Amino acid sequence: MSDDLSSSRTSAVVAPRFRRLEYRTPAYEPLAALYRDALGLTEVEPGLLRSADSGFELAFDVNPESKRESETTVGLYHVAFLLPSRAALAATLRRVFAAVRSATERRAETGDLETPAQEAFSGPAFFIEGAADHLVSEAVYLRDADGNGVELYADRDSSQWRRDAEGNIAMDTVELDMAGLLASATSTDGICAGSSIGHLHFRVPDLDSAEVFYRKNLGLKVTQRSYPGARFLAWGGYHHHLGVNTWAKDRPAPEGAAGLVRVLLSAPPPGAETSPGAASRRELDTDPAGIVWGW
Ligand SMILES: [Fe+2]
Repeated sequence: MSDDLSSSRTSAVVAPRFRRLEYRTPAYEPLAALYRDALGLTEVEPGLLRSADSGFELAFDVNPESKRESETTVGLYHVAFLLPSRAALAATLRRVFAAVRSATERRAETGDLETPAQEAFSGPAFFIEGAADHLVSEAVYLRDADGNGVELYADRDSSQWRRDAEGNIAMDTVELDMAGLLASATSTDGICAGSSIGHLHFRVPDLDSAEVFYRKNLGLKVTQRSYPGARFLAWGGYHHHLGVNTWAKDRPAPEGAAGLVRVLLSAPPPGAETSPGAASRRELDTDPAGIVWGW
């Protein structure tokens, strides 16, 4: 399988876009507090949010019976929104921090600040979980009201990406220069035109069987297999469009759990095994993370 690493250097493959993500949730408004109000996605109608240039959309299917999982399960680790520049990432972060600050001030006025360590960094219904410099990118992590992971990131220019002797794209987790990042903001826009869903990251029971599934069904190739407990795959020469990890226990999500349930691509994935004459719109079987892919 290591041939992927060298072939991913020069591939001219055009990657499909992540066009639409569908979530199951017990309630929409707590999620909208992050995706609509703090991140600035446009509400087409309640439950449907779209990016500024309609490059992608998030759809929330409300089922009051669906449960938010308190324990870590197989499924979504995070959805990563890729901003077109460092300044655009910084602008979005400033908007998120402003939402957190105003919510915290409202709570302070009403005497509703009970657990300072958590609440001090909490927004109306989401919280900022961490930040990291991954060498290829700078990233900040949040968690929405249902516990879904969210990454906001901007890539460094690909000319700065490094590869090791085996061909792995060098990625690491080191301290982010948050002050320097925020200083680069030139506005307080949210997720702006030119942004996209840059990658998805799932929790799976097993890396090897997950790799086989995504290679065969989605035409993804490995770009990084040396990271402990994780593997990264991409179409073409990107650092990754999909990350998978086994950092959580192999615990399946219960039937009907809140979370990401479906991913729709803008086009058939390049190199995927598709049968001749297959319908132009196709849906795959559930993947190792319990998520359905289609295009
Ligand atoms: Fe990520």
